[in-house]
Amino acid sequence: MCGIIGYVGSRPAEEILLSGLRKLEYRGYDSAGLSLIGDGEIRSVRAVGNLDRLEAALAGDAAGATATATLARPATIGIGHTRWATHGRVSEANAHPHYDSANRVHVVVNGIVENYMALRERLVSEGASFSSETDAEVIAHLIASAYRDDLAGTVARVLTELDGYFAFVAMTLDEPDVLVGARRECPLVVGRGADESFIASAVPAFLAHTRSVQLVENGEIVVLRAGEVEIRDGAGETMLREIVEVDWDEETAEKGGYETFMLKEIHEQADAVAETISDRTARGDGVDLADPLCFDEALLDGVQRVVFVACGTAYHAGLMGRYAIEDWAGLPVEVDVASEYRYRNPIVGPGDLVVGISQSGETADTLGAMRVARERGARVIALTNVMGSQATRECDGVLYTRAGLEIGVAATKTFVAQLALVYLLALRLAALRGSLSAARIGELVAAMRQLPQLIDELLDGLDARVDAIAEWCWQADFFLYIGRHAGVPIALEGALKLKEISYVSTDAYAAGEMKHGPIAMLDERTPVVAVATSSPVLAKVINNIDEVRARGAKVIAITTAGDDTVAPHVEDTIAVPATEPMLEPLLAVIPLQLLAYRIAMRRALNPDQPRNLAKTVTVE
Ligand code: G6P
Repeated sequence: MCGIIGYVGSRPAEEILLSGLRKLEYRGYDSAGLSLIGDGEIRSVRAVGNLDRLEAALAGDAAGATATATLARPATIGIGHTRWATHGRVSEANAHPHYDSANRVHVVVNGIVENYMALRERLVSEGASFSSETDAEVIAHLIASAYRDDLAGTVARVLTELDGYFAFVAMTLDEPDVLVGARRECPLVVGRGADESFIASAVPAFLAHTRSVQLVENGEIVVLRAGEVEIRDGAGETMLREIVEVDWDEETAEKGGYETFMLKEIHEQADAVAETISDRTARGDGVDLADPLCFDEALLDGVQRVVFVACGTAYHAGLMGRYAIEDWAGLPVEVDVASEYRYRNPIVGPGDLVVGISQSGETADTLGAMRVARERGARVIALTNVMGSQATRECDGVLYTRAGLEIGVAATKTFVAQLALVYLLALRLAALRGSLSAARIGELVAAMRQLPQLIDELLDGLDARVDAIAEWCWQADFFLYIGRHAGVPIALEGALKLKEISYVSTDAYAAGEMKHGPIAMLDERTPVVAVATSSPVLAKVINNIDEVRARGAKVIAITTAGDDTVAPHVEDTIAVPATEPMLEPLLAVIPLQLLAYRIAMRRALNPDQPRNLAKTVTVE
């Protein structure tokens, strides 16, 4: 996830920005840059690769990086950015800061401007000249074109033109003592010093200089001068905001105050889904997957069958794809673990769309399976979170999840982003094939766009609720997870999470298959986790729950808010907000991630680094 830092004060800004960017490295990035104003000039330096490259560029000796204008005196105002590519490839031109055609307004941006294509076309027709492929650059041009003499007022006006989820900080040569930040969903925090002010996407960026923090709320604009900060709401009213003293150490700050990266990443899932779906569902009622750089929708023409190949958690996303694509698009779907698929002599060829799902894009078996399919003439696409990863180089098209860097070894936010993207693929195929009406697609798209908000609602107070359940079951030495229909991938994923981070033995089964084996494992010590959200087969799930309870097992059910048919049959329930039945499983996995997490914590294990597991598995 990109990182932002801004500084205005009396000390040399370059050092402060660079050290701030170093503190944001944990968020992951592929390029970086900074801009400084001094003596009526803007100096801007950007480089692909790590911050050492940026430092070398600043010193004037890096190839593949550019630096403009050398300032006579050290600047005391500037903005910096670490970029994790989502729109536009990894390149120096796409690195931030971005600037307008006259090179007077510079901006650093996180998130996504959904309507950037339309804005860009308009700005170009008005004479703007763009230098990057990013959505972010439109903000610099919009500010420049609307600017008269007040940066803060201009930013307020520009905000009303932008759709999407973002945070940005802008500065202009015309007001060389002011930074203006704005946020919609993506975070921004302010740091207050005696005669200096900081703004960043996360506290670690300025923790070495100040512990006095102000939070910028959604929709607000913040105007920073040396030692002076004004926060305004969208209507321009000044907001009073408490200054909080944070006592975090550096490591806690990197975790955003959460005790682990995994917990932080669980709480970033609304963002991960929002970024993954936002611009792809922004135009009309449909889904648009086209990306001029990496995905031509012609790849979806005439597809006869879809095949998902993946490993681990990503495989579970593929299983969800089967339910969604069969149901919505009416296409046959095959799903296999990549390590089996690649050595199976699979029957695959032209007409097949093979989708390799891989968070890292580097998993050896997934790459192997994609290669086999490609050699046999199938169209192969990669569905991955990492731009430039190997999977993106060995395929015919790429669909990116935009979950940001995931540090916890057990996948959480990347999984929900994969589910979201697989749903979009299913909807796009449905539209192309005419298997769903435009009105029905519109309803499903609207429900998808609600998901980030539903995730936030669900997470509110959920951790404590789940911990109360963990309290009675954490010592159990075996858990069974069951579900039916689109609940099956979630049961499998819930069980995998618990296994991965708690080292508790689990089994996960399609509930209807349970009586053919795992039922023999059950007794009164066995917790059974049932995914029992809305579905055409909920009544059958309840029958299966009754079967396990008849063996004495204790049932924890993930249900849908408002449903009262499941609760009488189980010990404990956690309800997820109601939405389209096919989408509820995306919500249902969240309490299961937390259940695994809380059990691991009660067992005094470190969920971020489970034993024997690696985040990226580049060997077969
Ligand atoms: C490893 C990780 C899992 C992940 C799997 C596939 O086993 O520990 O969390 O699901 O690899 O990784 P990929 O990067 O291909 O999604």
